[in-house]
Amino acid sequence: MRVYLETFGCQMNELDSELVRGQLLSLGHEFVPHPDEAQVVLFNTCSVREHAEQKVYSRLGLAGVRKKQGEQLIVGVIGCMAERDGVDLFKRYPQVDLMCGPGELDRLPLLIDNAARADAADRSERVALAGNKSRRSATLQAAEDNLELLDLSRAFEPVANDAKSRSAYVRITRGCNKFCTYCVVPHTRGAEVHRPPSHIVDECKRLVDAGVLEITLLGQTINHYRYTHGTALTVDGHEAPQVGPGLAAFRKPPDPGARTTTFADLLHRIHEEVPALQRLRFVTSYPRDFGDDILQVMRDSPRICHYLHVPAQSGSDRMLKAMNRGYTVSEYLEFIDRVTTTLPDCTIGGDIIVGFCGETDEDFEQTCELVRRVPYKNNFIFKYSPRPGTVAFDRLADDVPDEVKRARNNALLALQNTVSARVHERWVGRTVPVFLEDIRERAAPTGPANGHVALSVAGRAPAAATLRIRQVIGRTPGDLIVALPAPENAETMLGTIQSARIIGSKPLLLDGVFPTI
Ligand code: SAH
Ligand code: SF4
Ligand code: F3S
Repeated sequence: MRVYLETFGCQMNELDSELVRGQLLSLGHEFVPHPDEAQVVLFNTCSVREHAEQKVYSRLGLAGVRKKQGEQLIVGVIGCMAERDGVDLFKRYPQVDLMCGPGELDRLPLLIDNAARADAADRSERVALAGNKSRRSATLQAAEDNLELLDLSRAFEPVANDAKSRSAYVRITRGCNKFCTYCVVPHTRGAEVHRPPSHIVDECKRLVDAGVLEITLLGQTINHYRYTHGTALTVDGHEAPQVGPGLAAFRKPPDPGARTTTFADLLHRIHEEVPALQRLRFVTSYPRDFGDDILQVMRDSPRICHYLHVPAQSGSDRMLKAMNRGYTVSEYLEFIDRVTTTLPDCTIGGDIIVGFCGETDEDFEQTCELVRRVPYKNNFIFKYSPRPGTVAFDRLADDVPDEVKRARNNALLALQNTVSARVHERWVGRTVPVFLEDIRERAAPTGPANGHVALSVAGRAPAAATLRIRQVIGRTPGDLIVALPAPENAETMLGTIQSARIIGSKPLLLDGVFPTI
């Protein structure tokens, strides 16, 4: 069948979509770029904020109109909204034929098959096939084994020579056990489960053999990766995914009798066993329990990027406590100091929530202070969005008015811009390797500045409106964006890593040139 798949949300979802795509392609389905051409429309959804869900509701509205007009169309909601909304969504959106939470994606082809065969009138059968939460009663281990097969089924065809396919995600941990009070992720993705290191290393090797240059490891609190060997085996004696050890495991030294792969060990293994991998990075780091062992492996392994995405969420101890984040501002800062001491050129990014329950002007000012103090290259700033099912939704009042949330959001964005500008400035004059990803053409603001190539139409004197500059856009190991004047053969350079000299900076961008040009 012709399938259209649209993805919302985080990198976990992007990876899930890739796996789902591979699985459906191998079963003979084909993918189309526009929903109008599709027989099956799938939305891989995100529940993290209300806004993310609204986008999907509007897509469902459009699909509903098509069905009302008599089109034969299968509409599927997969991912975190399917898990959170469950049967409620079926009730409100009768146009939805199937739902499949992130823990059930291995069953998606079956659900599509069944939906295709089902009598359109027999809606009750479809609901029963939704799969949502169906595994909750089964043992977690069994559920995760099947999911593990989905990751293991990944297709490793030689990749095209473009940037997107030369950069890949590899999951090391599923789910989350932290239960920050505002967050749906532990509810939608389930308990923290670590994949066996051999599966991870093997996946990295096969991706690199197929031409991948850059791998980003994924986990919600990635430094909490820990696998104890010999304790979780499949019936045929292979290592199986393993439920996370809990916070207590990080309070004491590892049991000397146990053979354990820590996150630092895993990074080291991938770096050593996959020598053709050019860039290894990972998200998202949790500010607590990030040991010096990890920083040392990063320092000593030239192909591990000096880049951390390590969200603080707030600069107020009171808010961090209400959020159940498990660290104080001074512990966060102590960690940042360790990072900058061991890895002076490490870039740091984060996430911040403004307007969380009970946040006063003073709490907010403390967050501003944190942003002034930490050399963040960027921060994603979110207005708190109460999510049904979370502790904050049930027990804390969403008492910061929306105008105040918006004002704090804007003030923090402006402050972050000045911090970002300072961080970017420090790179001017350096030569850095840049992974080239994209070409963009845009109007030149004030004529051909900074050595950029100006294209004028048919040799006429370039009027301001006809001036276009063509740039190649790439990223440094530290995930800073670099814009370079595009040479003639720019297309052939996409998906490669080239040296660039940084000659200027803007708050969110470095201007570079190729040294040989
Ligand atoms: N595991 C990561 C975050 C995953 S969710 C971590 O702990 O850092 C991505 C980001 O969404 C979070 O860092 C947080 O800033 C934001 N977020 C999560 N729930 C939210 C909510 N209810 N309202 C607003 N932002 C939220
Ligand atoms: Fe959500 Fe907290 Fe887990 Fe991150 S650590 S996914 S914010 S519960
Ligand atoms: Fe959204 Fe689910 Fe990711 S809620 S942020 S898609 S884990």
